[in-house]
Amino acid sequence: MESGTSGERPSTSYDAHFRVWRGDAEGGGLEDFTVEVNEGEVVLDIIHRLQATQAGDLAVRWNCKAGKCGSCSAEINGRPRLLCMTRMSVFERTDVITVTPLRAFPVVRDLVTDVSFNYEKAREVPSFAAPAELGPGEYRMQQEDVGRSQEFRKCIECFLCQDTCHVVRDHEENKAAFAGPRFLMRIAELDMHPLDAAEEQGLDRKTTAQDEHGLGYCNITKCCTEVCPEGIKITDNALIPLKERAADRKYDPLVWLGNKIRRRE
Ligand code: SF4
Ligand code: SF4
Ligand code: FES
Repeated sequence: MESGTSGERPSTSYDAHFRVWRGDAEGGGLEDFTVEVNEGEVVLDIIHRLQATQAGDLAVRWNCKAGKCGSCSAEINGRPRLLCMTRMSVFERTDVITVTPLRAFPVVRDLVTDVSFNYEKAREVPSFAAPAELGPGEYRMQQEDVGRSQEFRKCIECFLCQDTCHVVRDHEENKAAFAGPRFLMRIAELDMHPLDAAEEQGLDRKTTAQDEHGLGYCNITKCCTEVCPEGIKITDNALIPLKERAADRKYDPLVWLGNKIRRRE
């Protein structure tokens, strides 16, 4: 018999005080619930229990319940987190646990937000540029050449880093010019790719990161790194090296001379 709907409650269970945001694009507010919690549960379990027992139409997006699909992103007590990876045991039993939708993106309903901003930004990053001299099946890379950027491939696209970044969190007006940490990291990854031929094909990823994707807005506060559920060191390993390479490129005397000659022509 499912715990929380009927039958004996395990002796380790307790009642928690949840405050959940309900509403839609027109507006909404926090609603209070007292809900059963059992040993080993995560916040997503509690949200599911609310759906099953008290709020059948509560909207929440989830899929894997294993921290891998990136769809259950929300804010718990104001901090961007995955609902399925936040254990109830990290809270005191007497805590009021507030669950709200991601703040940087428009609400669809309840805990579900429209994250299409991120898909638009993804489309703006030019994809891997295949080297002209190699055909399919001929790509060869050494582990030591891909080691640095392999970390970035762990990204599950939960967009918690995008949500927490102060550049867009409270500044809707910055969204047009700023790709956000996830996609600046993608540019860094491609720039480190040993076979990426963008530069040979006339695309300088470092300069476009600065000029077109808003790298200069990032003031390396590391908030994105702090909320990443995959533990990716976004700032230290992607954004700062990309900034350094962009600055090297800008102040490289040979590049400066080349640009000057091109401008004269
Ligand atoms: S380090 Fe940069 S990208 Fe990350 S949260 Fe801070 S400003 Fe945003
Ligand atoms: S970098 Fe981390 S926080 Fe950002 S989208 Fe990927 S997994 Fe989520
Ligand atoms: S449900 Fe997939 S990451 Fe939480």
